[in-house]
Amino acid sequence: MNKEDVIKHLKILVSQIEYHDNLYYNMDLPEISDAEYDQLRIQNKNLEIEFPDLVLPNSPSNKVGSSLTSTFNKVSHVVPMLSLGNTFTNKEVEEYINKTRRFLKINQNENMEFVAEPKIDGLSATLIYKNGKLILGATRGDGKQGENITDNIKTIEDIPKTLKGKYPEEIEIRGEIFISNSEFERINILRIQNSLPQFANPRNAAAGSVRQLDSKVTASRKLGFFAYSWGLLSSPIGKSLMEVRQNIKNMGFNLNHPVRLCLDLHEMLQFYENIYQNRSNLDFDIDGIVYKLNNLSYYDRLGATGHSPRYAVSHKFPPEVGLTILNDVKFQIGRTGAITPVAELKPLTIGGVRIQRASLHNKDEISRLGIVIGDTVSVKRAGDVIPQVINYIPDLRPKKNRAIVFPDNCPSCHSLLKRENDEVIIRCINSSKCSEQIKGQLVHFVSRNAFNIEGLGEKQIVELFDRNIIKEPADIFLINLEMKKDIKEKILGLSGWGALSLSNLIKSINNAKNQSIDKVIYSLGIRHVGLGTAKIISKNYINSESFIAKVRTLAISNSRENFIEELRQINGLGDKAIFSLVAYFQIHEKKFFNLIKFLNISDLLSMQDDSHYLYGKRIVFTGKFEFLSRTEIKNKSEKVGALISSQISNKTDILVAGLNPGAKYTKAKQLLVSIINEDSFLSYFKE
Ligand code: IVH
Repeated sequence: MNKEDVIKHLKILVSQIEYHDNLYYNMDLPEISDAEYDQLRIQNKNLEIEFPDLVLPNSPSNKVGSSLTSTFNKVSHVVPMLSLGNTFTNKEVEEYINKTRRFLKINQNENMEFVAEPKIDGLSATLIYKNGKLILGATRGDGKQGENITDNIKTIEDIPKTLKGKYPEEIEIRGEIFISNSEFERINILRIQNSLPQFANPRNAAAGSVRQLDSKVTASRKLGFFAYSWGLLSSPIGKSLMEVRQNIKNMGFNLNHPVRLCLDLHEMLQFYENIYQNRSNLDFDIDGIVYKLNNLSYYDRLGATGHSPRYAVSHKFPPEVGLTILNDVKFQIGRTGAITPVAELKPLTIGGVRIQRASLHNKDEISRLGIVIGDTVSVKRAGDVIPQVINYIPDLRPKKNRAIVFPDNCPSCHSLLKRENDEVIIRCINSSKCSEQIKGQLVHFVSRNAFNIEGLGEKQIVELFDRNIIKEPADIFLINLEMKKDIKEKILGLSGWGALSLSNLIKSINNAKNQSIDKVIYSLGIRHVGLGTAKIISKNYINSESFIAKVRTLAISNSRENFIEELRQINGLGDKAIFSLVAYFQIHEKKFFNLIKFLNISDLLSMQDDSHYLYGKRIVFTGKFEFLSRTEIKNKSEKVGALISSQISNKTDILVAGLNPGAKYTKAKQLLVSIINEDSFLSYFKE
């Protein structure tokens, strides 16, 4: 980058950071996630480190928090309310410790204790007490001046209005005001009912609740407060942080938890990892860990930068979002013919995972995002979910860009694509001839919940298909036949295959010959016919033979209508599934009968008791369960005939909500779906 480019880039970053600061601090309405915001600041910081002489006078690196709006009276902080320095990797934490050791001249064999505690995602506040009485509460503001929010703060139960036990005549306690996830859900539900925009996250809900002109509104929301620091004191409250914690606790404050006094880096990282893995068990949002020196005598010696004190540092959890370039868009064909646009990205690493592709879902989503090829896009990867493109940065759109053109024809078989009336998905409907669809169907057929054929994954299926060895499910069973020596030889001739892998495959295919009818139906990969639907269908036929007989007559005139009518009598089976099922057997009849020649098909084993309360009920699960694992609860429910789905819709009968329920909870409330907790749900299974 030349000098002009760097300045241009820095200016763009400054204006973006200012824009998002205003949304976050003053309006409580952020448009991007904290991790995305951090990315902007990191980019800015990296450029400033690389080009120190180009740092702009209004650089965000020299600022803390927000500029103020004028609604509340201003309060000056005698002791500035600083922010924290950030570290993101173990290595950076180690460097921070080493730097601190060098500064304090503490050598490696001497202990340097750190107190580790969660970094809460709320808003910081300071509370001033005189003679044990709360006289002022204020926000951080820009670190030097905050807003007087005393009336609102007095409504927070966690904040003592009078101190207990022993305390200095004048004491300023600092900490974080936050909203628990469950309270966040409750407030948002009320907002939906009152046609108000929902809060984006608990932090904004907390900020929005505290900065209310009418303190009755604050009082109506259950805000929490954790004390973690202090400002002006008329006399000291301890020599170590652990001692201060105990004393503050005795005065009546809630403390941040869990906490650990760590003797070395190893213990600090262990704590970090432990909390990171278990963060969903906490009922409040945290975005990292804070390490603070335990010995307070070091604090003054270390001092602070304009932005943060040196006695503490935060260790942020890996970002879930990153910025990269959209290089191209490819169109994938799924097993049911759905065309999915997939973003091809300039590779980036999010939370330690390398990402090159992200789903763009469908044509409408591309229009909604308004992206073009060449854009700088932000990509989110949360947990095991497929990476998603969230938005793009308009200022960084290159002059040379290219529109994303959704194809009219299938990229694989070139037949004309179709969009059904009420659908967002565009499909290739050439299901019997489109190679990509057939490959997808085969991959589904061998997958774990279907025929579970070990040794055949996507890679192997694609190769065996391309070499004309497997063209339809029945071909898999030909591999096992004694007389088909030529097939075995062909497979052995392919790279990656040996005598052992082939003999294991043969064993696995042999095992797969015994299947119950519901599994067979499910494995065909019929659109709208998942495992639950396949079970419902199977259950409603006296035995597997009678179902197969029905399929056999399909070619006979009138029998299609007859079959449809019969299926319509089945409780819990919708028209979409019915038409899809019947159409499948009309088109793929031959394939189906080729396959079942090789199989021993049994009836659906456990005949269910349709008198059970949960029989035929559509159930969705959310949150974390305490007594049983989610799989066990699902299995139990399926056994008594419940239909499990993953999404809430107006067909859902019950939402079973565990701890920390997510968006499904809000949606269920909206749709007036009945919601019960794990305990009540399990009571349906008691004898
Ligand atoms: S100690 C000098 N401890 O994070 C600052 N801060 O990003 C002393 N925060 O401004 C703060 N949890 O609002 C501290 N356990 C914790 C914290 C915490 C959240 C906030 C605080 C601070 C910001 C810095």
